[in-house]
Amino acid sequence: MGTSTIVQFGDDLAAYQVMAQNDTALVASLNLFRASELWGARMGTFLAQALPTPEFRSEALLHTVQELRHTYLFDRRIRELGGIPGPVPEEAIYLVRCAQVGVGLPVERVEGSPERVLAPEECIRLFAGVHVIEARGARTLRTFADAFPEDDPTRALLEDIMGEEAIHAASDGDALESFRQQGLASSVDAMLASCGENEPIAWRRFLNSAGEYVFRVEYEALGARK
Ligand SMILES: [Fe+2]
Ligand SMILES: [Fe+2]
Repeated sequence: MGTSTIVQFGDDLAAYQVMAQNDTALVASLNLFRASELWGARMGTFLAQALPTPEFRSEALLHTVQELRHTYLFDRRIRELGGIPGPVPEEAIYLVRCAQVGVGLPVERVEGSPERVLAPEECIRLFAGVHVIEARGARTLRTFADAFPEDDPTRALLEDIMGEEAIHAASDGDALESFRQQGLASSVDAMLASCGENEPIAWRRFLNSAGEYVFRVEYEALGARK
């Protein structure tokens, strides 16, 4: 028996305000964010071994720990709201949707490591993709946070996490800069342009025409309030 819950992502503050006042939708959306964090951490555990330099690997390690911390923070808030942290379908993971349109690397390639260290062109695809995805994450969390009163614990949680997503976006920018210095500026520019074009396509496909994401999964898996 499936059920549907509408999660109103998009760029519209009013939609997030509606969601902030509906516990079922709120818990469902926090579960969506939680699943994305966990997916990022999953990718990171492989990247911490598959990236070609010690600097990239230690940066990946730090990212992984931070994405795990974000997962835990969502987990805790979901429970405080009376929900159950639970799995969401893979199609609900934004990193997966982005990889389908060439933004970032697919999980299959990342998990094929550490047998094969990522080549420079693959690193550029990865860093350019994660750069725009982290920026999207930080913007979305900002809009969502604004939907809550100043003293709301969910707002504090979202603000805590968004700060680190913005730092991740910047550090991926730094990594790209290092490839520019190695004479790969045209690859970096081409990949950033392609991610800049394709990421909004992934975002629109993620939403329906009303700017909503609709869950159709088991009630329990939504972590909905009992
Ligand atoms: Fe995160
Ligand atoms: Fe991040």
